[in-house]
Amino acid sequence: MKKMIFVMGILIVLSLCLVGCGKTKEKESTSQPQYAFYKKDKEKRYQDYQKQNPDLSWKDVLLRVNIGLDQPYYTNTQESKHLYSNYVLVNKYTYLKEDYIPKNLVVIDSAYSKGGISLSEEAQKSFEEMASQAKEDGYTIRAISAYRSYDYQVQLYRRYVEQDGVEEADTYSARPGFSEHQTGLCVDIDDGVFDFNQFESSKSFDWMMENAYLYGFILRYPKGKEAITGYQYEAWHYRYVGKKIAQYIKEHDLVYDEYYMEFLDK
Ligand code: DAL
Ligand code: ZN
Repeated sequence: MKKMIFVMGILIVLSLCLVGCGKTKEKESTSQPQYAFYKKDKEKRYQDYQKQNPDLSWKDVLLRVNIGLDQPYYTNTQESKHLYSNYVLVNKYTYLKEDYIPKNLVVIDSAYSKGGISLSEEAQKSFEEMASQAKEDGYTIRAISAYRSYDYQVQLYRRYVEQDGVEEADTYSARPGFSEHQTGLCVDIDDGVFDFNQFESSKSFDWMMENAYLYGFILRYPKGKEAITGYQYEAWHYRYVGKKIAQYIKEHDLVYDEYYMEFLDK
């Protein structure tokens, strides 16, 4: 009898232990939602960033750390991936080399540009279609800056730093190699009347907000997303990403860096 009670006791302890262990395991695997873009080697950075930003969802923590935002701008920089494609990401953590020139630059029709400026062919075609439709609807969309070479960005950035100092310049100008303009996929526009930095108050801007995604363009540096893009709001700067991605980004209120980390960071 004593022996039986002893064996039963052991069995009870063992089963309690198994249930307990199961629970612990379950708790570990469900404590945070699982995402395909989770990177094991960044676990500590995720944890630290979550502590510093307790209001962020786990998904946003992962995406932002993957962008690199837990570290100062221009640290741990890497060469951009998906070069020469519509997907290439260029921001304060990913750059294009000095000799990177898009392969298929085409000059934008002077009817829709200041003249002599180029975009990568697919983006150029789409831009002209967009500007032509805007014109039919009664609005002017005019490209004032498009592809910029590395060397040109050197001059621009140097001038801005002389004018405003590094800290200020970094809020509105990319450093050479880190400008999306070098991809040939983005364009600054005005309404043909007022200065580009007044574009937000134009009817052409409203038209862009409603229609740009239909032509594959997104507002790249939106208001309220400065902490993710690293740049002040730019109502005039649009990036070509193709129609499908542009629609997804608009519907989900994302910036390209977030979309890229969720779906293209491979
Ligand atoms: N103004 C944008 C950020 C650039 O310089 O590329
Ligand atoms: Zn721009």
